[in-house]
Amino acid sequence: MALITKSIKGTQDVLPSESHKVRFVEQTALEIAGNCGFREIRIPVFEHTELFQRGVGDTTDVVQKEMYTFLDKGERSITLRPEGTAGVVRSYLENGLYNEAMPQKLCYLVSCYRYEKPQAGRLREFHQFGLECLGTASPAADAEVISIANDIFSFLGVSGLQLEINSIGCPECRKEYHKALHDYFESRKEELCHTCLERLERNPMRILDCKSPVCSEIAKGAPKVTDFLCDDCRAHFEAVQGYLKAMEIEFTVNPSIVRGLDYYTRTVFEFVSTGIGAQGTVCGGGRYDGLVEEIGGAHTPALGFAIGIERLMLLMEKQGLPFPEREKCALYIVTMGEKASLEAAKIASALRKEGVEVQFDVVGRSVKAQMKYANKLGAQFTVVLGDSELESGVVRLKNMESGEETEVALSDFENAFLRASLSESLKGLEELGVDADIDIDELMNKNLF
Ligand code: HAM
Repeated sequence: MALITKSIKGTQDVLPSESHKVRFVEQTALEIAGNCGFREIRIPVFEHTELFQRGVGDTTDVVQKEMYTFLDKGERSITLRPEGTAGVVRSYLENGLYNEAMPQKLCYLVSCYRYEKPQAGRLREFHQFGLECLGTASPAADAEVISIANDIFSFLGVSGLQLEINSIGCPECRKEYHKALHDYFESRKEELCHTCLERLERNPMRILDCKSPVCSEIAKGAPKVTDFLCDDCRAHFEAVQGYLKAMEIEFTVNPSIVRGLDYYTRTVFEFVSTGIGAQGTVCGGGRYDGLVEEIGGAHTPALGFAIGIERLMLLMEKQGLPFPEREKCALYIVTMGEKASLEAAKIASALRKEGVEVQFDVVGRSVKAQMKYANKLGAQFTVVLGDSELESGVVRLKNMESGEETEVALSDFENAFLRASLSESLKGLEELGVDADIDIDELMNKNLF
């Protein structure tokens, strides 16, 4: 296949048959976060490379191996965001959001870019729903943030996700830990990969999430961070667990979770599935009490998480979970001749203003071809409009599912259509067992449809 008709490795299209599902998932996440006070923020797709080097950390796999970095025409080093947190924190500082109500609760939908080896659930362009809560060190905030991810998964009906939590301590208690890790890895130095040899001196914790099979095998025997927590960090971690229990959120403590980004402190967590292959982490997050300061702001404890949209969709599809149906064409107007086409344009325009999806022939097809097209669209109603209908002022509105036809005066068409469409929706509700005691006339009079 020619290069220009092939998408770039590790990227994927979302086609119209799927896009409503993604929109549903994203909307659900935004609404659930919104109920906890998180407001959407939109940030640029690229930032100065230094932001990620400083924020995410220049000893991480993400920064060392996976970033899409280039020089722009002004010779500035630019990077496509590999994640959302650093950009959100940059925007929080640049726009003085710390002067507004604190804590700042921000959420976002972003595309992210990482030059990783593509496989199921691992892409080079992927999407995240994430949120960040800036300005609180309280363990109650940790539990609230975790509970939001939990609520999103429950609302969507996702099952089998394990919540795993850990504490990786603060810079103070981590000093001891780094020393212990250094000693451990030093003894296996000969076997480590080239990147990890460098990490050994600069940040031995990063060896723990190296993807090379040899390094990750060695990492299994490394000292555990939980054995090195200071009293404050230990108390904080216990309090987080207390809140989670009070909120009846099931979790396990997994001392191996250290997360792959440098900014984390104290609580870290992941929601992991065993049902979608090797890339089972659907959501990852944690505290980053030092990041705002690292990027140039005042000391601001904060935390957040990000859910990988593609991984979540993969899991939902695997579990056969229901999605709302794709919006269907409510009315297709089949036309014969120019006059009818003009009338159809008028009706379509009026009904579209009422929020109804209406289509009519914009190709110049035969009546038969138009009917075929209306069927393909899954139109709920059709109406045929030609010279004789225009002359008599009467048309036949056809319910495509039942085949039932109703004669309607053209002068009253919009009203009659809305009534028929509403009655169809109410029937649908009744079939679902919803007792919809609604008077259509009353609704129509009050313009409430
Ligand atoms: P992360 O663990 O690097 O954390 O990514 C979060 C989620 O994004 C992962 O759990 C996964 O579902 C998805 N993801 C990551 N890489 C890929 C990929 N190559 N292909 C498909 N999905 C992927 C962060 O990005 C942090 N910023 C999360 C956070 C927010 N921590 C605090 N606040």
